[in-house]
Amino acid sequence: MRWRRKDRDREAISFHYDVSNDFYALFLDQRMVYTCAYYRRPDGDLDQAQEDKLDLVCRKLRLAPGERLLDIGCGWGSLVMWAAERYGVEAHGVTLSAAQAEWAETAIRRAGLEDRARVEHLDYRELPAGLRFDKVAAVGVIEHVGIKNYPAYFARIHELLEPGGLFLNHGITHEKQWRRSSQTDFLERHVFPNGEMDNVSHTLDVLERARFEILDVEALRAHYARTTRQWVDRLQANAERARALVGERVYRTWLLYLAGSSVSFTQGSIGLYQIVATRPDPAAATVLPATREAIYARAESPALAEAS
Ligand SMILES: C[S@@+](CC[C@H](N)C(=O)[O-])C[C@H]1O[C@@H](n2cnc3c(N)ncnc32)[C@H](O)[C@@H]1O
Repeated sequence: MRWRRKDRDREAISFHYDVSNDFYALFLDQRMVYTCAYYRRPDGDLDQAQEDKLDLVCRKLRLAPGERLLDIGCGWGSLVMWAAERYGVEAHGVTLSAAQAEWAETAIRRAGLEDRARVEHLDYRELPAGLRFDKVAAVGVIEHVGIKNYPAYFARIHELLEPGGLFLNHGITHEKQWRRSSQTDFLERHVFPNGEMDNVSHTLDVLERARFEILDVEALRAHYARTTRQWVDRLQANAERARALVGERVYRTWLLYLAGSSVSFTQGSIGLYQIVATRPDPAAATVLPATREAIYARAESPALAEAS
């Protein structure tokens, strides 16, 4: 049964993500980030906002040189590369998409980051027992996990973390009054087979039951409304090329799904939360920063100051 689910997940991921790297490049930013961006300026452009999001994740995880970072569901490797390059961590990404892993490995070699960054085509459930990380990120993965599998998912992440380690979960949620609709049926059938969203309060509850301490929760719904809107604009601007790569049907399906998502984020029926949690260390209570300022004051980042 367990294996059947893994096979189904692999097929579902391949259906969505292996469409064509070139097709995704037509509407994503230059680093191929396929999750909500972070607009420090409300009218900011996508490339900058995705870099700001990658940096936000690194800062919330308080990455420090030499730490081991696991990026579950690493996509085309954007966070793995950013964290290795700018924060000096040893970054290991896993994705269920073969096309993404291949693309990421090439990008890592080109950037000369092979000594610190790697991406594997691997289900996170297949990571060897006994492996431990200081920090774990999962950006846009929980939507693929299935709500009934959350306890096992969080338990595995708990095991993968060192005591005192930090976990950042970034995921789409729906409002508590959510009901199935023709829109959700369309998404399940034509865009995200096996996809499932939860409400944020239930997710937090399961995380706490999995023995995590929740440190920070941030709503980024307005940011995802703008991100998806910008993806729509870019895809439309590249319509001819998109049709040539994937055909009329896939082009229109993706356009409809992205435009529908933008409307739903704007109206509030779906949302996006970043949650930071820690695996408590029985030997030492986690020392929390007194304020959130260190997260947001990018210009004062020692890591970035050194890198630039
Ligand atoms: C929406 S994409 C996000 C990619 C990346 N984190 C980003 O922000 O661009 C979701 C990712 O989760 C990965 N994924 C889903 N289930 C997975 C699993 N069981 N093991 C490893 N990766 C998984 C997919 O292959 C894909 O890379």
